[in-house]
Amino acid sequence: MSRIHEALKKAEQERAATQGSAAPGQPVYAQPADLGMTAMEESPIAVAAGVPSGGVPLTSAMPSFASPFSLDALLARCPQLQWKPDEKTMLFFNGDDTARGTEEFRTLRSRLYHAREKAPLKKILVTSALPKEGKSFTASNLAQVIVKQHGRRVLLIDADLRGPRLHIMLGTTSSPGLSDYLQGSSDELSIMQRGPMENLFLIPSGQQISDPSELVANGRLKLLMQRVESLFDWIIVDSPPAVPVSDASVLAKACDGVLMVVRSNSTPVDMARRAREEFSEQMLVGFVLNGTDFESSTYSRYYYDAYVKNATESKS
Ligand SMILES: Nc1ncnc2c1ncn2[C@@H]1O[C@H](COP(=O)(O)OP(=O)(O)OP(=O)(O)O)[C@@H](O)[C@H]1O
Ligand SMILES: [Mg+2]
Repeated sequence: MSRIHEALKKAEQERAATQGSAAPGQPVYAQPADLGMTAMEESPIAVAAGVPSGGVPLTSAMPSFASPFSLDALLARCPQLQWKPDEKTMLFFNGDDTARGTEEFRTLRSRLYHAREKAPLKKILVTSALPKEGKSFTASNLAQVIVKQHGRRVLLIDADLRGPRLHIMLGTTSSPGLSDYLQGSSDELSIMQRGPMENLFLIPSGQQISDPSELVANGRLKLLMQRVESLFDWIIVDSPPAVPVSDASVLAKACDGVLMVVRSNSTPVDMARRAREEFSEQMLVGFVLNGTDFESSTYSRYYYDAYVKNATESKS
């Protein structure tokens, strides 16, 4: 049994065992389950150094197209807005980096850096099988924990044009944004914004549109990535659920890897499998088991312990 399958199976068993046992109102947190264990381990790809234009320092050893924009242009054109992040779920904005749940995101970050040593990895699509499994929660907190490291610059993109949430979670405006760019009415830098957290940039979803599948498939997302990727260490793309609609698999074509969120006690294993089948083994970077109550679950305690050990040994 592959480790991914094993993780899904355990999540399903845990779901069956603890169905309905979570106390209402109890906070639940993400566990980075099984990251970096897919075919990438078997077929490592050599990583080349990227050479950005405009004197932008690149901390990641990634091949990338030179951006037509310099860092100065990015900072000059990208407005700094007054975000009002949701304090309960945006874990890194309140200055308490020891808050519950933050360690799991540091571990996830560390795992991603490890995965990147083995294969080119900068543009990550975050998806899951079904709605409300924690894709936006994971994407936004992952972006935050990465920029907490000095000098790391992250672009977070809300590509869930059907049910955009990142602007709500971060307490900011939703447009101009991705849909405006995909329609050709805005350029790359005019759809980006930044808030109070240094080096965290956001492309919100943009104006509501009626044809999300057509827009995400029109090829302009790839162009957007090519034109801005050398300005960032990571680009994290939030997406709609992968089973009901095809957007996520289309969006993945513009990314280097897919991070699959599985909601503990909730995602049916057959749905998780179907979502997984939307992506090639090579694209799947790993799974995040979200919402584990690690104080009452043997399974998640096991993973939690294992990851803490791992993370202290090898934090990026
Ligand atoms: N681990 C967690 N701890 C606390 N709250 C969480 C956690 N994961 C998700 N949530 C909350 O659950 C709700 C649903 O999560 P989120 O919006 O991230 O799901 P989603 O998969 O992006 O949903 P959709 O498919 O509708 O876009 C949000 O209010 C989010 O803040
Ligand atoms: Mg979402």
